[in-house]
Amino acid sequence: MSDAFYITTPIYYVNARPHLGHAYTTIIADVAARFNTMKENDVFFLTGTDEHGDKIIRAAEAEGKSPKEYVDHISSLYRALWPQLHINNDRFIRTTDPDHIAIVEQVLQKIYDAGDIYFSEYEGLYCYGCERFYTEKELVDGKCPDHDAPPEVIKESNYFFKMSKYQGALIDHIRKNPDFIRPERYRNEVLSFLKEPLEDLCISRPKSRINWGITLPFDENYVTYVWFDALINYISALGYPDGELYKKYWPSVQHIVAKDILKPHGIYWPTMMMAAGIPLYRHLNVHGYWNINQSKMSKTIGNVVEPLQMKDKYGCDAFRFFLLREMAFGLDAGFSEEALVQRINSDLANDIGNLFSRVLAMTRKYFDGIVPEIDLNMENEFNLDLAQQAQEAIDEYERQMDNFAFHKAIAAVWGFISQMNKCVDTTAPWELAKNESSRKQLAYVMYNLLEGLRVVSGLVYPAMPQTAKTMQKHLGLDPEAEFYRLGTLKAWNILPAGTSLPKAVTLFPRIDPEKVLPKQETVTPGKADISEIKPEIGIEDFLKVDLRVATITKAEAVPKAKKLLKLEVDLGEKRTIVAGISASYKPDDLIGKQVVIVANLKPAKLMGILSNGMLLAAADRKSHVVATLDSKVPSGTPLS
Ligand code: ME8
Ligand code: MG
Repeated sequence: MSDAFYITTPIYYVNARPHLGHAYTTIIADVAARFNTMKENDVFFLTGTDEHGDKIIRAAEAEGKSPKEYVDHISSLYRALWPQLHINNDRFIRTTDPDHIAIVEQVLQKIYDAGDIYFSEYEGLYCYGCERFYTEKELVDGKCPDHDAPPEVIKESNYFFKMSKYQGALIDHIRKNPDFIRPERYRNEVLSFLKEPLEDLCISRPKSRINWGITLPFDENYVTYVWFDALINYISALGYPDGELYKKYWPSVQHIVAKDILKPHGIYWPTMMMAAGIPLYRHLNVHGYWNINQSKMSKTIGNVVEPLQMKDKYGCDAFRFFLLREMAFGLDAGFSEEALVQRINSDLANDIGNLFSRVLAMTRKYFDGIVPEIDLNMENEFNLDLAQQAQEAIDEYERQMDNFAFHKAIAAVWGFISQMNKCVDTTAPWELAKNESSRKQLAYVMYNLLEGLRVVSGLVYPAMPQTAKTMQKHLGLDPEAEFYRLGTLKAWNILPAGTSLPKAVTLFPRIDPEKVLPKQETVTPGKADISEIKPEIGIEDFLKVDLRVATITKAEAVPKAKKLLKLEVDLGEKRTIVAGISASYKPDDLIGKQVVIVANLKPAKLMGILSNGMLLAAADRKSHVVATLDSKVPSGTPLS
């Protein structure tokens, strides 16, 4: 019997383009969905966009567009991005979809009729970035901790949802269901928040202030608060309350969010569901932030990484793999391209890539690329442990995937890969191949290694669907068929002997960091060694050095010289300077740069070219960072 599995991401605000943070959440939802298809569960995967509210109007105004025009545009960017990252969602919901709007109205009316919505005047501290009121206590130094901006005082009459009424029931539910919110740190965070009396939730905005939203079914002068509208997407997408999808999938629902929206998902949403008589979600899975240089990657800060750029540069599977492996689910992680390249080279090119090409190359060499026949009796005299190790890796992988501990699930697969690499080294097929008498053993080893690769190809499928496909094709399997299923992966001796395998390919070519990383990351001048500071000089000595600003007008490599670039600079007059910086700069990177040169250095010949001056740069033995100026000045300006 297959179980239903319903997985959701947050619906993203359309006030800016998607970045790596959004891509991460949506990729892990895709991974969870694919893993569940491996378990032969019946999967429904929902993502979409959150399109109402004040900050959307502001963003539209900033672009000189009508809200509708604006939301259509940004929403389409999200929608178009997901397939490019091989994300296979079943529905892309927009809060401007008519079916969503109708269901929001229905839920509002239901809670209103039950007496859990009332009208009242309220004055509070409002953060426009978060679209919610803050209590004094939640502020850090009087500011919203997420947007680092002071909230505004707003006083108006509004409708309120009696959230406080459900506080006790929510605490009970969380206590009775320890994994309702996971990992545990976020459950504790919600419980600790619930130690204080819960305030009722303001769920409307007067149209006099905002009219981009869903009109309250019981008062046409108000629109629905964007969070109350947005959270309902999780049920409206399934056709609540009578839809077949709703009946089938809702009981299995799991949400994924980052910790920025823990409160709406851990408190507003469950209390809303209690009021509306909707069964609560199974799990809220909460992850941490991707940071760049220690601060959260965010559109507000503007330090975002474009997921498509990374995918185009390094490949979709490698990018997905990195995100899953690098972030311990629940904790923050730092993103850097350097770390990405490092993981590609070590985990992908080295570990899995080498194993794959080694095993296939040996199969080609010793068995003409044909899966060898084995004598099953060999097991008694020559136990390789691989079948056992595969079993253990799969069990661990399954446990961790079910718990959303993707990094640990991957570590389990890579543990098995390393056992296989060891197996190659200890059995040394190249030695076995030397004697006809060990032919049976050789066949047995190779067959088991191929089986191991088959297991690996299945286990990497959720993270790296294309790689899984390529591997399976090269193992002679039909990737469309059942070879991803956990049931099939758990069996051993599956590959049919006699299958002719296609020639191996390189799964992940090694990447030369020097060639791909942006300049500022490759250039890492060595540690300053203070003991090497030169002897003291007087100002009169220093003043002998004529430092000038020069603008580089031409740059070219010096033939046959490894490090040298020939530069033509303008410092009021034209000069030729030879600089040893070509390990760190391409000629084109330099044109137009304003640099600092020693203008009165005695000319010297380098590789036959007369260098008339010297360029200043921070340097160690390998790399250079050219000294430039804070803003443009006329060429030739002296420095003092
Ligand atoms: O909050 N690291 O939308 P949003 C990790 N519309 N994940 C990140 C991230 C980062 N630096 N930045 C963003 C909203 N995310 C509401 C949701 S749901 C009913 C309504 C991801 O566009 C992460 O999943 O601000 C986070 O929770 C979400 O984007 C916030 O997206
Ligand atoms: Mg946000």
